[in-house]
Order: sequence, then C-alpha cells, then structure tokens
Amino acid sequence: MSAALEVALTPAQQAVLDAVGGDDVTPLLVTGRAGTGKSTVLHRIVAVEQRKVAVVAPTGVAALNVGGQTIHSFLRLPVGLIGNSRLYQDRELRKLLMALDVLIVDEISMVSADLMDGIDRALREARGRPDPFGGVRLVLFGDPFQLSPVPGGAEERAWYTEMYRSLWFFDAHVWDRIGLRTLHLDLIHRQQDEEFRRLLTAVRHGAVTREMAQRLNEVGARPLPADPPLTLASTNAAVATLNRRALADLPGQEATALAEVDGDFGGRTFPADEELRLKVGAHVMMLRNDSEGRWVNGSMGTVAKLHRGVLTVEIDGVRHEVEPVVWERHRYTVSADSKELQREVVAQFRQLPVRLGWAVTIHKAQGATLEAARIDLGRKAFSPGQTYVALSRLTTLAGLYLTRPLIPGDVIVDPDVRRWVEDRRRAAAAD
Ligand SMILES: Nc1ncnc2c1ncn2[C@@H]1O[C@H](COP(=O)(O)OP(=O)(O)OP(=O)(O)O)[C@@H](O)[C@H]1O
Ligand SMILES: [Mg+2]
Repeated sequence: MSAALEVALTPAQQAVLDAVGGDDVTPLLVTGRAGTGKSTVLHRIVAVEQRKVAVVAPTGVAALNVGGQTIHSFLRLPVGLIGNSRLYQDRELRKLLMALDVLIVDEISMVSADLMDGIDRALREARGRPDPFGGVRLVLFGDPFQLSPVPGGAEERAWYTEMYRSLWFFDAHVWDRIGLRTLHLDLIHRQQDEEFRRLLTAVRHGAVTREMAQRLNEVGARPLPADPPLTLASTNAAVATLNRRALADLPGQEATALAEVDGDFGGRTFPADEELRLKVGAHVMMLRNDSEGRWVNGSMGTVAKLHRGVLTVEIDGVRHEVEPVVWERHRYTVSADSKELQREVVAQFRQLPVRLGWAVTIHKAQGATLEAARIDLGRKAFSPGQTYVALSRLTTLAGLYLTRPLIPGDVIVDPDVRRWVEDRRRAAAAD
C-alpha cells in the first residue's frame, strides 16, 4: 500500500487528481487497461484529499485492495437486488452520509446497474436531497473489459430484462439525470515487458492471433516449482478440488465443521462449505467482514489452532478466535401493477466464515497484482473478461503457469461493452 504513495505519477494520472480537485462536479469515470495504475491514483487521491472521502468496492477482496469497505456494508444496502425496496438508514448512517463529500468506487465493472441506482438512492435518501447521488461527488475506477457483475437467479434476470438495457453500471437509470465524464489511463505499469503488454491488450479486445496464443501457451506450459504459487481458477468447484488436495497433503488431524442449513437455497451453491474440513497449518480466506473489524472478507490467514470445536486463525501475525455467522437467502417478487420489489428470507445458512485459501476464483483476484500464479480456466472460460483478468494479474510472463493451453473460446468480450465503447467513441467525435 505504501508503495502506491511513493511512485511518481504520470501526467495522465496527475490529470485525474486535478480533475477530482477541480470545480466540475460531474461524476468521473477513470478507466484504462489492467495495471495502468487506477487503484494507485485512487490511493493518492485519498492521501491528499482535504474533503470527506469514502472508498468502497463491490467485493470484499477488491475493497481490501484499496483499503475500503464493500459498497453494501458502507451504505447498509440489502444483499441481492435492491430495486425500489425500502432502505433502512438509522441516524448514525444518515449522519455519516450527510458529512460525505466524495465517494470513490473501485472495480466499477463489478457494480450492477441496480447497485449503481441503489447508491444514488441511498445517498439521496440519507441526505434528504433530490439531486443525483444526493450531491455527493462520485469518482469511479475500473475497466469494463474485466469481470462484469455476477447475474443472479432467474428472478433477478427477469427483473433486469424488465428494468434495464443490461446488467452494467453504465446502463443504470441515474445516468439519464446526470452525465459521466471519462478519463483514460493509457500506460501499463504492472507489466514492464512490451511483449507481455501487447499480448494482454490483445486478450482484452479479443484480438489474439495464432502466434500470440502460441507464445502464451509455450511460456505457461512450464513445470510447477516445489512451492507452487496461488492458483486462480474459473469455477468454485475447481477451487474446492485444489484446496481439498492441498489440505490432504498437509500432515496432522483433520476437523470438520458442519453448516446448519434452514430452508431452501434453490439449488444455488452455499455461501460457504457445508462440510468445512480444516487442519492446523491450512491456508484460509475469511468470507465475511468481521463485526468487530478484526478481518474483512478476503483476508488471508493460516489455521493456528483447532481445539474442541474452537477455531483460531492467524491473520497478519495476530491470532483470532472465529465464531460461526449466518447467511440469508432472499426471494424477490415484483408486483405486476406497482412494479414494487418485495423480498423475503427463504433460507439461512450458519457456518464459520472461512474457506481454504490455496486457490481462489479469478473473480476474487480482480484488482490484485501477483508475481506468479497458476491459471486454471477449466474446460473453457465462461465469462467475458475472465481470461484477461487472470493473465493481467501477473507482473511478468516468467510467473505464468497454465494448467492447459489457451483456446480461442477462452477470450470473450461482452457485446454490451463493445456497444458502450462504440457509443462513447461516437459521442467524443460529435463534441
Ligand atoms: N506511475 C507509476 N509508476 C510506477 N508504478 C506504478 C505507477 N502507477 C502504478 N504503478 C504500479 O503498477 C501496478 C498496477 O497498478 P494498479 O493496481 O493501481 O493498477 P490498476 O489500473 O488498478 O489495475 P487493475 O485494473 O488490475 O485493478 C502496481 O504495482 C503499482 O504500484
Ligand atoms: Mg485496480
């Protein structure tokens, strides 16, 4: 984190700082390829800004990366679809949001249109002001060629079809009432090697030639070192298998924590393992923000003690006892005439907020910088931006390990993102 404060900013990065400090209060989107220093500029803004600033991100891990909170925990938004459902804001929250001048959001590509509009409404309601975002200055950072919001179940998709042009933040309704000014960062800093930069840019735009694929595949086919790096896998299932194997390789007694499941989770995966198996020494990732602030969703740690059902995890050299937490699943219904979104709790899941951490999903790795990683795309990548996010975490080609050669189907660009780029190009030409 401190490194981010030491680097000398490029003129384009400095221009972002100047724009944020300037008089134009139009929301700002700072975009550019992976590793162009978006999050670095974000850190710098926080360091120099005199006004009241809050930093948020859509996922726990992305928030960790920039020293912020999740959007949901900061604005106390309901999990899942927000729509026009009632927001619960106590005095303390309203006071906090009243005092806010600038809201900074990182990894905006993972913010859905519904969440974007939820941010707008939460700020308007808390501040009692009708103008967009309740008059708070918004600064968004991210790259739409990286991972998109995760579409929910059938009810959520039906809601989107009805209410929005697409799932993307840029299709939120709030943009009908206020503009979004875009600034571009062009220079890639994460990778120094010109060849690797070129390869990554081709993956981003879905323009990988046969020679490029060959080059990546040759490099990635090298054997794993004795102490293998973190694995980035596309599916939860692959992550679970890898972690299970790593656990089996660890000596010592295994203990199991069983989840309590109450109600119907609708065939969707549980928020944590139903049967959580652990050993002393196991690598783990924390799954929820701790109510006492001892860790956040995404914190990495090691199991230090497992004794009579009590789990102790060491995080950054400090040992903590971990208690089970409850997750809720909601069901949405939309009333046909009023279009009002209603929700009810249909299921609960109680488990320790911990999972094994030798492998993580690519989704969780977005925003990270890694020296080495083993990339496991399964049979075929299935989301736009997935392969690009995985590869672009690495600082050098020398750190790339592939579980299998890349195939053309691994590189997917979202048609809504292409449309957005086209629309912006047209708008810029008309200026
Ligand atoms: N001006 C700079 N000079 C030197 N290094 C820089 C500069 N800006 C950023 N970096 C470095 O480049 C790397 C990537 O930066 P950062 O994580 O901010 O990129 P990003 O655009 O947020 O990437 P992503 O899209 O993957 O989130 C970091 O290691 C950072 O320290
Ligand atoms: Mg970033």
